[in-house]
Formats: sequence, C-alpha cells, structure tokens
Amino acid sequence: MTDKNRQILVTSALPYANGAIHLGHMLEYIQTDIWARFQRSNGHECYFAWADDAHGTPVMLWARAEGKSPEELIDMMNEEHKKDFRDFGISFDNYSSTHSDYNRELVEKIYTRLDENGYIERRNINQLYDQEEGMFLPDRFIRGTCPKCRTEDQYGDSCEACGSTYSPTDLIDPRSAVTGSAPIIKESEHYFVRLVDFEDALKDWMASGALQPEIQNKLQEWFTDGLRDWDISRDAPYFGFRIPGTEDKYFYVWVDAPVGYMASFRELCEREGLDFNAWWDKDSTTEIHHFIGKDIVYFHTLFWPAMLMGAGLRTPTAVYAHGFLTVDGAKMSKSRGTFIRARTYLDHLHPDYIRYYFAARLGPGTADIDLNLEDFVQRVNSDVVGKVVNIASRCAGFIQRRFEGKLSGTLPRPDLYDSFISARVDIAADFEGRNYQSAIRRIMTLADEANRYIDEEKPWQQIKEEGRETHVHDVCTQGINLFRVLMTYLAPVLPFTAERTGAFLRLDVSDWRTIDMPMLDVSINAFQPLLTRVDPLKVNRVIEDSKESLQPADSEEGADSKTSIEALADEITIDDFSKVDLRIARIVAAESIPEANKLLKLTLDIGSETRTVFAGIKSAYDPAELEGRLTVMVANLKPRKMRFGTSEGMVLAAGPGGTDLYILEPGDGATPGMRVT
Ligand code: 2FM
Ligand code: ZN
Repeated sequence: MTDKNRQILVTSALPYANGAIHLGHMLEYIQTDIWARFQRSNGHECYFAWADDAHGTPVMLWARAEGKSPEELIDMMNEEHKKDFRDFGISFDNYSSTHSDYNRELVEKIYTRLDENGYIERRNINQLYDQEEGMFLPDRFIRGTCPKCRTEDQYGDSCEACGSTYSPTDLIDPRSAVTGSAPIIKESEHYFVRLVDFEDALKDWMASGALQPEIQNKLQEWFTDGLRDWDISRDAPYFGFRIPGTEDKYFYVWVDAPVGYMASFRELCEREGLDFNAWWDKDSTTEIHHFIGKDIVYFHTLFWPAMLMGAGLRTPTAVYAHGFLTVDGAKMSKSRGTFIRARTYLDHLHPDYIRYYFAARLGPGTADIDLNLEDFVQRVNSDVVGKVVNIASRCAGFIQRRFEGKLSGTLPRPDLYDSFISARVDIAADFEGRNYQSAIRRIMTLADEANRYIDEEKPWQQIKEEGRETHVHDVCTQGINLFRVLMTYLAPVLPFTAERTGAFLRLDVSDWRTIDMPMLDVSINAFQPLLTRVDPLKVNRVIEDSKESLQPADSEEGADSKTSIEALADEITIDDFSKVDLRIARIVAAESIPEANKLLKLTLDIGSETRTVFAGIKSAYDPAELEGRLTVMVANLKPRKMRFGTSEGMVLAAGPGGTDLYILEPGDGATPGMRVT
C-alpha cells in the first residue's frame, strides 16, 4: 500500500468484570479486531489493548453476596474473558483490568493535573441513601414510581414507559434495589469536573474529523443544551480507587474506565519496550482509535477527551460508535434463547462463521445490526463455503493428482489476476472506513468472477480431452491464485480459515502487500476442507443451551449486562455442584428484624447443630407461621457477616419473589440433617 507506516492503538469498550461475554460484546470486539488485523496486514504498527472494567457498585455487591473479595472474582472473570476472546480469534496485544497499579497511577496523575489546573469543583449534594445497607444508591439501584407518568417500578434515572429522565430524588415512593427499604435523602460532598471549560476545545476536536456525522450532530445537541458539570466522586463503600487526599471518596467507575485504555497500553509498552509517553504526548503523531457502542458516546466524546485535555495529554484520533445487536429482529432475550453467551456459541459453532456474518452486516454508521439466524446459515454457507472455499476445492484436486502438487509457471488470464489485485484499493478503503459490508460485497463479486472463470473453462471436462493437460494445469493455477488473493482480503475477517489456507498454500496469506506476485512454479499441500458448512442443527443447539443457562435471579431481557450480576449464572460442573452440602433444616425460631425490609432471622436445626441464617423471605412469610416448618439449606456456605449478625448458611426458597416464595411443605418424610441429593 502507498501510505506510509502508521502507528496505531485501537481499543474496544471495556466489558464489565461482573458479567459473562455475550454476542453483543463480540460484535464490537470483532469489528475492532478486523480493523486491527487489516491495519497490520498493510504493514502498519497496530496494537489492540483493552481491559476489564472492574470497579463500581455491582462488583462490590456481587463480592458481598458471594462472600469473596472483589479481587478474587474479577481475576476469575478476567481469565474467562480472555479465553473467550482468544477462541474468537481476537488478536489483542494486551488485556488487563482497570483494577491495576498502572491504572491507579495514571488516574491519580490525571486527576491531580485536572485539580491543579483548576477544573475540579467540590460541593455538597443530596442523594438517596440506603440505611439498611449503609450506602448511597446509584440511580440504577433505585426503583420507584415515575414522577411524570406514574408508572410503577422504574429506575432512579429514567422511565421505561414514558422515556422521561429525572433525578432519583424525584421518584415517587423510591425503594432500594439492594435491600428493598425506603431510602432517606442524605447530603455528601462530591467532586465535579467543569465540562463547560472544555467546550471550545471539544468543538475543535469534533471538527478534526474524529467522529461519525451522526455523532457530531448528537454532540452539537449537547452543546446547545449546555454542558453540565460531571460528578466524578462516589462515597464509600465503593469498589474503586480512593481519591487522593480523601478518606472515603472514590473515583466514579467512569473516570478510571477510559484511563484503563491507557493503562493497558502502558503495560504493553513496558513489555514491548515502546515509548508510552511519546504515544500520549500532546503533539504525538501516533493514532488512537476507540471502538464503542452508541450507548456510551457521551462518556467517550465529552468526558474522556475533556479529561485528557485538562491533563495536557493528546486526544483520541477517532471514536467510532456502532449500533446494538439484535437477534432475529428483536432485542436479545434470555427466555427466547437469543441472549447468547460467547462460550455457548463456541461450544457449537466455528468463530469464523459469526466473524464473517458480522462483517457482512457492519457498515460505518450506528445502525443496529441484526443477527438473523436463517440468514446467518445461508450467508456463511453460500458465500464463504460455497463461493470462496469452493474455488480452492475445485482446483486443488487436479493440482494434487495430475500435477504432483505443483502450480504451473503461467497464468492464462493475467488480466483477471490484475483486476483482482487492483480491487485492493477499494477494498482497503472500505476496511479503513469500517464499511465492512461493502468490502465483503466487493470480495464476493470477485469470488463470483473466479467461479465463473472455472465454470467456463470446465477443467473437469478439458482434462479428459487430448492435449489439454497443460491448459488445465494453468487454469487450476489461475484458480488457486485467485483464491489466494480472496483469502488475503478475507484474512482480517476469517483468521482461522486464513491460517489453514496458509498451511495449504505454504504461504502466509495475511499480508496484503505480497499479492502483487502470483504463486507460480511452487508446490502446495493437499487440500483439506478449510471451513465446513454451518449445520443449522448446531445453531438450534446454541439457542437451546442459551435457554438452559437462564437463572431466576437474572433480569428477563437486556442487550447489556450493566447492572445484572451475571457471573452467578455461570455454568458449573457436576463436581462443583457436589460441593454444595444441601440439608433439610427445621426452623426452630423465626424473628423479624424491624430495621430490615426483607430479612428474617431464622434459627435452624440441621440435626447435628443449630445455625443462624438471615433469609430474605420476609415478604412471603409471617415469622410465626414458619416455626416448626422444614426447609432446604446450603449448610457449607462460608459464614457471612451482615449488618444484623453473621449468617451461617442459606435457605432455599422457590418462586418469582414478593409474596410468592415457597419453602418445603411439611409431612413429606424429610427430617432435619437429611442430605438433599
Ligand atoms: O458500558 C460499558 O460496558 C462500560 N464498561 C464501558 C467502559 S469503556 C471505557 F470507557 F472504558
Ligand atoms: Zn414515566
């Protein structure tokens, strides 16, 4: 390619550490990965670094619920996430966590510079506070009645029924989603970044071409509405980095999350001996490209560049937002089995299938992308297997059987080969501009041409004709060469198939700069199926298994996992399950805890001993009616310190919640201490 070598860092948005990776995440990582691989294919120095977004209230509550440290849980998830990415062929150079010393150091440095430069303001604000849990409640952890349309059970920041946004203190009859108690209003000092100070600089940055047109328009709207100060602090208890100079204030997770891009890259720089500071210097000629979902544009186009500007650092070269993933035209749904985890997909299907499908659907804009399952099967089978791989399989047999595995020294149609390699300019422009669907269309048009050429030449007929052997050799050599060019263009999209192609052709097909030279007079290996057809039955298995992974605690629908504590729903093995000691317990005493909305204190007899357990079944049972009843308890759960005492196990109840929670019915022969199997 002609443009000189560029130095590029690409990132994807950081997934929350408390959730499993699903196909919605993978859409973005695949989009980013294709772009990174494309840049490398063209000789640019391109790194892909990102991390888990480890901080915030959900991780803290998850750790409490599990009786584990947040560190232990986020480390476990980090491993799981990395494995998912590797198995999808994501070519990341570094994957870290925002809970790292590198990140802490950078966050503190940026904050200190912002403060020294006078951009931080401190003032008191009122917020809802859960007395039972002893914490201020984030907006998403408050439910109540919408002050505008009076729909019940809405989040603290916006109403799903009428779409209005409001302050949580405006909610009617607010309730804490953590304990169910009615929160009080409490005052506390918060730290704010004055965004309006950056308005002019942000407008200049926006004019530099860093954003898609629709995002520029959005930003313009925000400027017109007026930029509000950004609250960057949270009170303890919080899982995050403490703000320097404070005892109990933490950086809001959205402060250290984008800095996590830098910190992950810094780790990579140390490992690879790259000059980190030169990359982030104000006048750096390096490029930084962020790929994100359209729901987090505000954070990346206002907060993040403002932080960098205020700290005297360079701003991103570009921020690219994509749309949401829908499956069969609807939001991903756990009940329909379309909320598909990365691992569930990989259990049944080849990663290159979905990489191809996403590429074929992705354009440069923010439109939503639909994974239509029927179209997925049809498209991958007809394009990748039926058109591209087919070219090789139609020619390779002759080369192997008739010509000792060696290509001829001549291309019978050099003009055709030339037209294939001159398509590189337009295909490259499409990849560069993230118009992958257009690149795929161009590549498939070429694949059609290659197949047409073979159809016209009919090597299977000519081989039977006297004196046509050399020509057949040349035709098949032409076919293999056309196939090689196509696979080179597709290598960023289909890394696994490209790898197998490389083994077949005895040549690396990932470098776009090598295709000017056709493969002539060289030996190739015997053809092995490079990618087999998608089996629709396996797609059904993915859907079925996604239904099975449903857990009652999970929210019913959702294209993201922002507040759900998803990792609890992870698959366990029979060995894991057999570690759970389930016992029949007799409820000897049950008492209400007046300060707690949900909890009852139970004294349980499990035959050999008595246990105290705090159980969240107050809404369903009057303590008096519980005494003497039997229940199933987890007897080997690590004791957990709670506000009202230590809970020495967990009681199992079934039902949708509220007043519909059921423990065992008496009279079925169970006795205390009996093992439940
Ligand atoms: O929305 C999310 O899933 C966030 N965890 C993304 C963070 S991206 C960045 F800023 F770090
Ligand atoms: Zn409403």
